[in-house]
Amino acid sequence: MDKLSILGNGPLEGRIPVSGAKNSALKLMAASLLCEEPLVLTSMPNLADTRFMADLLKSLGVEVEWPKGEALCRMHAANITSTIAPYDLVRKMRATFNVLGPLLARVGHATVSLPGGCAIGARPVDLHLKAFEAMGADIVIEQGYVKAAALRGLKGAHIVFPFVSVGATEHAMLAAVLAHGETILENAACEPEIGDLAICLNACGAKVTGHGTPVIRVQGVAKLTGTRHDVIADRIEAGTFCIAVAATGGNVFVDGARAEDLGALIDCLQQAGVTVEVEAKGLRIKRDPSKPIKPVDVQTQPHPGFPTDLQAQFMALMCIADGTSTIRENIFENRFMHAPELSRLGANITVRGNEAIVKGVPKLRAAPVMATDLRASVSLVIAALVAEGETTVNRIYHLDRGFERLEEKLGRCGAKITRQEGSA
Ligand code: EPZ
Repeated sequence: MDKLSILGNGPLEGRIPVSGAKNSALKLMAASLLCEEPLVLTSMPNLADTRFMADLLKSLGVEVEWPKGEALCRMHAANITSTIAPYDLVRKMRATFNVLGPLLARVGHATVSLPGGCAIGARPVDLHLKAFEAMGADIVIEQGYVKAAALRGLKGAHIVFPFVSVGATEHAMLAAVLAHGETILENAACEPEIGDLAICLNACGAKVTGHGTPVIRVQGVAKLTGTRHDVIADRIEAGTFCIAVAATGGNVFVDGARAEDLGALIDCLQQAGVTVEVEAKGLRIKRDPSKPIKPVDVQTQPHPGFPTDLQAQFMALMCIADGTSTIRENIFENRFMHAPELSRLGANITVRGNEAIVKGVPKLRAAPVMATDLRASVSLVIAALVAEGETTVNRIYHLDRGFERLEEKLGRCGAKITRQEGSA
């Protein structure tokens, strides 16, 4: 397993480009199953997760052309040859479950392995399945597989989600675009990735309105064509770089960061004493490293609240704040695994239920640490960038699932990060 060695060595300076959003790309890729003509995605992030989704699509009969290292991926689902997504493919990455809705809508049936839990929580899919049932699908769960059928097609439905779910909102949208009649999704998620999916689906001939608000309306159409769509910039990757620069100090232009998607983070960074300048094509982050970081309390919320996917990174920043902050995780039940690892670097964190009390310390010190999930891993990278000495971050395959060329991007701004391949 690869590991990273990171030498804490002062401020970052320069420009960091932001890639296309993993969490949008994965759902856009699933949407290719709905399209009779090619769907071409540009700004595709080259990540373990997106490559994995491409393999699953190929196994279902989608022609996928995506040369290694390229940011353009062409998917053509002219003939769907299989409607089965087996356990081995779904268990590795939850977003693969999202092929269920498109297969059901286009072919009328699908058998997809339940994704199961993961390190950050149980993450059930009951809301996804209830939405399909409301659209007239028969759902049976047998031996860990969801068997769904709507042989005469899905029909529009009025679905009120009991709480906000990004995945269920996207999945219901993916199914509703080919349903007979209108579907109304209430208490829908408003994350920017949902808007990106709606824009792409509409360019393929779908009729989706209200995306970006809690009420989304989908007027079903008989078929979707294809389109060329540029994947939205990754707000979580962008936010991670903003926090990294806040932590190290320096002056970096985060090229492609969209202020409109990062409002909650920008507020928190400004409260922490970091300068955030909104420029036409990105955000400039500045901090004088001799000035202290002020403690800021945050709690994660659905968009436009503070994103759970930036909680670990912000905690890393608060570890070196001049005072105590409280971080509350409201989305996932078990998303503080980074806290004990940050403590290995000298952080002072007490976790009580879904709250972490972070008492800032003047200095973090290098230590071997272990990555437990994607965002936890990158929080350790941020902490290592400011720790005294050389930190080793083990088990970084999580990082490779969601951050494209991380060490190269940070390295160009002066970070000293090296990858050691294949070590245990
Ligand atoms: C998406 O997960 C993202 N993943 C997550 O990013 C992100 O943290 C999350 O949204 C919240 O923003 C992808 O887009 C691939 P949810 P998702 O449904 O859709 C519960 C990362 O690091 N729930 O909004 O799975 C669920 O357990 C990842 O990139 C149910 O109970 O999140 C959670 O507590 C991690 N039943 C809450 O809702 C359901 O049927 C919100 O989850 C669905 C969800």
